[in-house]
Amino acid sequence: MRSSSKLRCVAALALLALLPAAHADDKDVIDYRQHIMNTLNEQAAALGQILSASVPDDNVIAHLDAIALTASTALKAFMSKVPGGEAKPDVWANWADFSKRMNDFARMTAEMAKTAHEHGKDAGLANVVDALSCKSCHDTYRKEKPKQ
Ligand code: HEC
Repeated sequence: MRSSSKLRCVAALALLALLPAAHADDKDVIDYRQHIMNTLNEQAAALGQILSASVPDDNVIAHLDAIALTASTALKAFMSKVPGGEAKPDVWANWADFSKRMNDFARMTAEMAKTAHEHGKDAGLANVVDALSCKSCHDTYRKEKPKQ
């Protein structure tokens, strides 16, 4: 291969490698919102361990911050209307209700984190059951698939 056509070849390959990154396809959209949900899951599970007193509680405020920050990113991840994964089509059919629930979730977890910073971790945890509205949203909008 002459070096000029070799160069063209390399340039074309480089472009191909860039293209998928530039355009989020349906799988990317679904993967992204599932990554956010799994982040919530890990942080909520860590908090659960603390609440059951199986590990020390030194990191409570950091976990509340992480949940609040992640919750604040969640609505954006559902804005593209891409049914699939475990999301029921109702997410987009009932968008006003779904987005209200997600905004309430973000607001309440942010309040929880703020209270913990201002008044300590026990005060922050006082509303933990109401703030973590995971199950109530999932009961309506998620169709859990059996794990392989
Ligand atoms: C307002 C609604 C809503 C709230 C609040 C919510 N979720 Fe979800 N969650 C969903 C939907 C919808 C899906 C399905 C997403 C998909 O598969 O595309 C989902 C999926 C998941 C999944 C599966 C991800 C995967 O890889 O398939 C986990 C785990 C999860 N949520 C954990 C949580 C936890 C923990 C919380 C609370 C701390 C939470 N969620 C709060 C709507 C919500």
